[in-house]
Amino acid sequence: MSFDLIIRNATLPDGRTGIDLAVTSGRIAAVEPGIAAEAAMVIDAGGHLVSPPFVDCHFHMDATLSLGLPRLNRSGTLLEGIALWGELKPLLTAEAVIARALRYCDLAVAQGLLAVRSHVDICDDRLLAVDALLEVKRRVAPYLHLELVAFPQDGYYRSPSAVENLRRALDRGVEVVGGIPHFERSMGDGAASVRALCELAAARGLRVDMHCDETDDPLSRHIETLAYETQRLGLAGRVAGSHLTSMHSMDNYYVSKLLPLMVEAGVAAIANPLINIVLQGRHDTYPKRRGMTRVAEMRAMGIDVAFGQDCTMDPWYSLGSADMLDVAHMGLHVGQLTSRDAMRWCFEAVTTIPARIMGLDGYGLEVGCHADLVVLQAADPIEAVRLRAARLCVIRRGRVIAESEPRRTTLAIEGRPAVVDASSYAPPVG
Ligand code: FE2
Repeated sequence: MSFDLIIRNATLPDGRTGIDLAVTSGRIAAVEPGIAAEAAMVIDAGGHLVSPPFVDCHFHMDATLSLGLPRLNRSGTLLEGIALWGELKPLLTAEAVIARALRYCDLAVAQGLLAVRSHVDICDDRLLAVDALLEVKRRVAPYLHLELVAFPQDGYYRSPSAVENLRRALDRGVEVVGGIPHFERSMGDGAASVRALCELAAARGLRVDMHCDETDDPLSRHIETLAYETQRLGLAGRVAGSHLTSMHSMDNYYVSKLLPLMVEAGVAAIANPLINIVLQGRHDTYPKRRGMTRVAEMRAMGIDVAFGQDCTMDPWYSLGSADMLDVAHMGLHVGQLTSRDAMRWCFEAVTTIPARIMGLDGYGLEVGCHADLVVLQAADPIEAVRLRAARLCVIRRGRVIAESEPRRTTLAIEGRPAVVDASSYAPPVG
């Protein structure tokens, strides 16, 4: 028997070691130790971690890499970021948006990030960003799965033409319904927007992913309405609340009622730790709230929680590098997710869980899944997060599409090893 590709001596995220993965016609054909077969291409993983690719289920590709255009965010706040984006929007050209998005996708592929759910602002009557990202989606399809969310950045009801524009965006092929209820003019309008947008998604058979309660106001409770509408309309498993930062500040008794409602409804949560830790608590003196939603508590209830990147070098965030291990690393710290089990889970929060939230077809390491794989310079998921490990090899549909040199440094210190490699340190615990 002959395969197109065999990756030998892999460690898998579930802890199995010495595993070979065989690939035929772009799909995983076997996952077992010591596959006795030939292959057109053989990759020796050398005991390193081999994972399915990283998935980012919350991003803004229309704004990415626009840092400094037309000016920098002086206060560093969410509201100035939104205002700044409003200044930039009329100046956007399709060519520039496409060029920046393609550049970002290059960075993503280099980091083993092969599926991105990007919100796209529909409040510009030209729908320039919508058309630009639909073009990007078409161009990157051979190497990156890009999913678009119709996002009414300036408010579904607050922005005069958002209702019509959102419908137009969906008609053009945007596949997920977004929202921003906490930015509407009143709590009542926010709740009404959640209801209308969920009804729209149900009528069209689409998924929902709303920016929801991205505020430090403990009384911002649109997630309750989102759970209610999800349950009422039978949308279980197809709805995500993004950010949910108000939950950080909510009354504990109220949360003890809210989380079971989310479980009952089948609503997922997406935290964006890099952004939440810098944008939330900005009105606080001290103590200063972290702002990230209650990740450990939701996870303990069985709610799907993923970590998203949200922003990279744009009006809201000056940093970022398309590296989902950076995101997981921050989420781990902000959420104090430091048990061995929780640290391993942080790797899942940027791989398998967002893949489930997006409903990605053929994702995973099972036989029959797409042969989309990343070889990391790490022994296990915890080490991958700890080191933001080098992505030695990125494979899509059985084809190598990116390679990086291993990270190691040559030392010139007498009496010490000549080469230091952080991934070669074996921790004493399993
Ligand atoms: Fe966002």
